[in-house]
Amino acid sequence: MTTLITGASSGIGWELAKQFAAGGDDVVLVARSEEKLQKLAVEIRETHRVSATVIRSDFAETDGVDRLCERLRSDEIQIDTLVNNAGFGALGRFAELPVDRQTDMLMVNVVALTRLTRLLLPAMLATGKGGILNVGSIAAYQAGPNMSVYYASKAYVLSFTEGLREELSGTGLHVTCLEPGPTETGFGDDSGMGKLDMFSSAAMSAADVAAAGYRGYRKNDDIVIPGWKNRLMVTSAGFLPRIATRKLVAKMQSVSHAS
Ligand SMILES: NC(=O)c1ccc[n+]([C@@H]2O[C@H](COP(=O)([O-])OP(=O)(O)OC[C@H]3O[C@@H](n4cnc5c(N)ncnc54)[C@H](OP(=O)(O)O)[C@@H]3O)[C@@H](O)[C@H]2O)c1
Repeated sequence: MTTLITGASSGIGWELAKQFAAGGDDVVLVARSEEKLQKLAVEIRETHRVSATVIRSDFAETDGVDRLCERLRSDEIQIDTLVNNAGFGALGRFAELPVDRQTDMLMVNVVALTRLTRLLLPAMLATGKGGILNVGSIAAYQAGPNMSVYYASKAYVLSFTEGLREELSGTGLHVTCLEPGPTETGFGDDSGMGKLDMFSSAAMSAADVAAAGYRGYRKNDDIVIPGWKNRLMVTSAGFLPRIATRKLVAKMQSVSHAS
């Protein structure tokens, strides 16, 4: 079996790649940072005795996914499990964040995830083995003022994954959404979330999050929310009116106006 992991150059994707390799899968490691991917590939080959292929891809580029699929075809690599993990966020007011960063976020978090799934799925259906593990976020369960595009992108990931799961039931394929809460990775610094108390005080390790996601995917769980605090947060949000949850998030993620 071969598993392709996007965003494998750091954080949760790095740890997920190690989980799948430890389970005996060959892995295809995808991201922009080729050197980091090569380092992980060496570690995986030495530790787990499976094959590890590195493919540099930039999903913010319009042809990023298609070029990745062409490379898979030319190298005759058949993907059994697709882990759509690549993603990033940005804290700040919608009207003030750079428009290109917002567009790139939608390209990576939404468009690439969808296109890659669509392009790899027919071959998976033909074998009836493997499946799809999408990495969403607990951000999917309510609106996120001052991070509106990121929260909306993760609501898409959850809705898409649930819909796909029903469409693929009975095919033999697993379809799981991993919904992490705050996790110690490059995401905190990159998004600006790391400086918020709500984030840093509750962060789990990437290894624990990936282990929960891997276990859940193997069992074909529909949704995996690692950590009891995160599960409590999602459950509570379900009981509150939407106006209350978005006001609460606005307070927790308050940012000052750019000057
Ligand atoms: N950390 C958290 O608190 C948290 C919470 C909930 C959900 N998540 C989700 O977990 C997933 C993994 O994030 P992480 O926390 O592990 O953060 P991370 O350490 O920053 O990893 C993000 C990964 O996405 C890749 N990526 C970013 N832009 C890309 C692009 N244009 N093309 C291809 N790959 C790209 C990065 O690789 P390169 O930079 O090398 O391209 C990196 O491997 C994301 O979907 C994130 O939204 C994270």
